[in-house]
Amino acid sequence: MAKILEGFPEGYYGEYGGRFVPELLIPVLDELKDCFGKAKIDDSFFEEYYNLLKDYCGRETPLTYAENLTEYFGKGKIYIKREDLNHSGAHKINNVIGQGLIMKKLGKKRVIAETGAGQHGVATAIMAAKMGFKAVIYMGAEDIERQYPNVFWMRNLGAEVISVKDGTATLKDAINEAMRDWAANFEDTHYCLGTTCGPHPFPEMVMYFQSVIGKEIRKQVMQKENRLPDRVYACLGGGSNSLGAFHEFLDEKDVRLIAAEAGGKGKESGQHASRLAYQTGKTGIAQGYKTKFLQNSDGQMLDTWSISAGLDYIGVSPICAYLSEIGRMETAAAEDNEVINAFSLVSRKEGIIPALESSHAFAVMIKDIETTTKEDIIVVNMSGRGDKDIFNIGEALSDEKWKEFVKQRGDGYGS
Ligand SMILES: Cc1ncc(COP(=O)(O)O)c(C=O)c1O
Repeated sequence: MAKILEGFPEGYYGEYGGRFVPELLIPVLDELKDCFGKAKIDDSFFEEYYNLLKDYCGRETPLTYAENLTEYFGKGKIYIKREDLNHSGAHKINNVIGQGLIMKKLGKKRVIAETGAGQHGVATAIMAAKMGFKAVIYMGAEDIERQYPNVFWMRNLGAEVISVKDGTATLKDAINEAMRDWAANFEDTHYCLGTTCGPHPFPEMVMYFQSVIGKEIRKQVMQKENRLPDRVYACLGGGSNSLGAFHEFLDEKDVRLIAAEAGGKGKESGQHASRLAYQTGKTGIAQGYKTKFLQNSDGQMLDTWSISAGLDYIGVSPICAYLSEIGRMETAAAEDNEVINAFSLVSRKEGIIPALESSHAFAVMIKDIETTTKEDIIVVNMSGRGDKDIFNIGEALSDEKWKEFVKQRGDGYGS
């Protein structure tokens, strides 16, 4: 683990982190922590892990020089880390392959997961199919609407998808349901948490499995530029792709690390999911851990909004809450309209279609570009590809031909 994160009681990052779960889950988390602790120092575990990432998932992912965008702005040199080219189309697979191998060691046969954008659900369903586990995926009913293509694939990969209708029917509600299932079934079930949140050891373990992203960025930028990047941008939902990209550079003080949150319809509207950049998150304990949550003065969780399901979450990684507090990780928010503009620009200039989540990282980078010079090296971690967002983007761009096509196909299914 990076030095900057050391020196706190186990599972804590500053005052954030910990484990706040029902008593009966403590031995389960201990078992998981011990198993992960042993795997971390076991060369054969990592050989199997890296071989699967290479031969099954397609790593390493390229670092693409965005020549057209760079020319267009005439400022810093822009590189894109292509997590979209992973098997399943997003970074989420890096984590689930690691947790799948941990499950094998634990002898568990059933895996449950929560998902927002559906990418983690698809990745978990893929891992379960490959490794021979039964998969149950909890997803908010609202997110099912927004990300139906991913639900279709999860079911066709053999997973059961359970629609969660409580609360705002989004990610936080899916997490609550997954926690309940885990508390009832932990003997044969592993909770494959999809991001760097939740009780210890999940934040550390998920960051560890995702840190392959930053390790590759370092190697690739060194090969291309013979020095480290000046800035790395990543979108920030729960924190897994940003910490995956940032971890390698946490102790490199000259590399600026910038996380892009969902500014939704703007700070004043209250309809956003920015916990850190808008400074609206308040320290609290929920969903098994302590962090900055979007909550009211009575501790009730607030409704969140983002055009991207994957960033639409009340909490944030305790590691990110700490890094932001000490100023090592900068934060900014991109509003929905800025995200759509960034999505269109990247698609048209580079022929690369980013996920709406990843488009937040591009949007913040674009807002900052004026502050860079031609000598600066910028890396944007593109966490996933945009195919899954076709309905939302069609809607946001008011693409009438697409809407008509969807309507016709929909009517056809009814007949
Ligand atoms: C493509 C993509 N990027 C980013 C995220 C946000 O999650 P995290 O902050 O854990 O990377 C998601 C979540 O579903 C996602 O699907």
